[in-house]
Parts: sequence; C-alpha cells; structure tokens
Amino acid sequence: LTDYFRYSFEDCQATADWLLAQTAVRPLVGIVCGSGLGGLADALKDQVAFNYKDIPNFPQSTVHGHAGRLVFGTLKGRACVCMQGRFHLYEGYAIQKITMPMRIFKLLGVETVMLTNAAGGLNQDYKVGDIMIIKDHLNMPGFAGNNPLAGPNDERQVLHKEKNSIKCEHEEIPHSDSRFGVRFPCMSDAYDRELQQLALDVGSELGYSDFLREGVYCVLGGPSFETIAECRMLHKLGADAVGMSTVHEVIVARHCGMRVFALSLITNKAVMDYDSEEKANHEEVLQTGKQRAVQLERLVSTLVTRLEHN
Ligand code: 6GU
Repeated sequence: LTDYFRYSFEDCQATADWLLAQTAVRPLVGIVCGSGLGGLADALKDQVAFNYKDIPNFPQSTVHGHAGRLVFGTLKGRACVCMQGRFHLYEGYAIQKITMPMRIFKLLGVETVMLTNAAGGLNQDYKVGDIMIIKDHLNMPGFAGNNPLAGPNDERQVLHKEKNSIKCEHEEIPHSDSRFGVRFPCMSDAYDRELQQLALDVGSELGYSDFLREGVYCVLGGPSFETIAECRMLHKLGADAVGMSTVHEVIVARHCGMRVFALSLITNKAVMDYDSEEKANHEEVLQTGKQRAVQLERLVSTLVTRLEHN
C-alpha cells in the first residue's frame, strides 16, 4: 500500500507564521515563475526575499534556471509573493511536497494565484513565442494515481469560517468546513473565467493579440521529453501544449479556495513527425523564455494591477 508523504496543517502553519514574522508584506496575490521566467520576481519593489533553504519545512530547488527564492514585494503598489523557481515531479519529490507552497500562499492570505510555465506546443497553429492562457488541463500523472490530494484529507473544522469562504455577489459561501478543503474538489472551474477574459482584454491593450492563445495544458511527469507517438496521442486527446508543471499546483490551490490564472510560454514545438529534424531540449526552452519573457511579465504584472480584491 502507498504511504503518502504529507505536511500537516500545523507544519504549513508554522512555515507561514515564520514568514509572516519576517516581513510586513501581506500579499493577496501569489505568483509562480516558470523556467526562465523568474524576471517577474526581480521586478518586485521593496523586496524581502528568502532562499528556499532558509525557510522552515520548505522543499529545495535543484533545477538549472530556477533560482529557488520566495520573494515578497509590491508590483505597482500591490502586495505580492513570488516563487522564483518551483518544484517538479521529475526532481524526485513527492507530489504532496512540491505543492506545499500553495498551502503556504493560502495561509499567508493569498486570494489569487498566477502561474507561468514553459511548454511545448502541440497545436499545429501555435508558434514558438506564443503565450497560451490555460483554460483547462489534462492531468496525466493524476490518471495514474499521482494526485497531490491523494492521502488523508485534513477533516478538522475551521474555527473562523470567514477565513475559508468565497465571496459570491451578496453572500459568503463557505468553501469548505475543513481546514484546507473538501475531499473531492471540483475541477471544472479550475481556471477562473473572468481572469481569462481580463487577460485577453489586457493582452489586446498591450498589443499582444497576435501571439496570445487560449488552450488546454497537459502535464507529464518528465524529465524525458515526449516521443513522437506520445505527442500525437496528447494532441488527439485535446492538449494544445505539454509541460511538466503547474497542474498539481492548480489542484492544491483550488482545493484550498484560491482563484487561479495560468499562462504557458510556448518555447518549442512538440515534434509530431518522423521526418522532423527537430529535437526538444532544455537550452532552447530557456533561450525562448528570455526572448518573450518581457512581454509575459508585463502581461502578468498588468493583470495584477487590475485584480479586484474585496
Ligand atoms: Cl516539448 N515537453 C514537455 N514535457 N515540457 C516542455 C516542453 C516539451 N517544452 C518545454 N517544456
């Protein structure tokens, strides 16, 4: 039988309390920067930054191109917390471990999470450098039982209901009675539709419409890239882009009631054809990240300034 790795609610609370004691920043927005997209964290003003290795209980980052810092600060006056570098399944960590920062976000008071990643384009209309607004996902590790919510659900009741509720027009609807969330969370509304529309509007204002897309992101475990047959299969299944991150974070963020918005930067085209000379490689991913990163960061930071929080 599987013995699930698990941080307890108290472990997460201890980490969040430690962070809250070190900084006066009270972020409503949490940002996760993908490979080569960490520039957003550098753009924060009045920074208070922590290396992951100095944060109690926090997992450690091992990938080239990921700095491994949690940065608090402001984006045009809005308080944010930013993960500069994230954790991946292919680093060998338990999926419950790599998603723990989402629960830290929640306990810090974050209401909206914005995630970015580098992804391979499966949709034949996509070009390298396109920015895809994620409208839905395919969770392939989840099909095989590797879901970040696998294992016991913390069923302790929340003491302060208002802390765990979602504002909905006129009333506060409890999101869950338990401290993080319900046993069987809904995922059909994982990606906030209002934020997707806002991103399209903001993208259009910034002149990005020519390279802004909306699509379905498929996560795989990695670290090997897909075979040609796998790319063809994923495309047939409805995926527009493929990568190795984001989905497990989205699931944990939605479980605890945060609003989610996510973007993929298409850094390379997935190889779908046996005649193709192209080969997916990490250097290309980082290189394209550098070229389109400025626009992607501008889109995210402009969105942050347009968010409405109660
Ligand atoms: Cl082609 N595949 C996967 N799994 N992840 C990627 C990628 C491809 N390109 C960037 N990240």
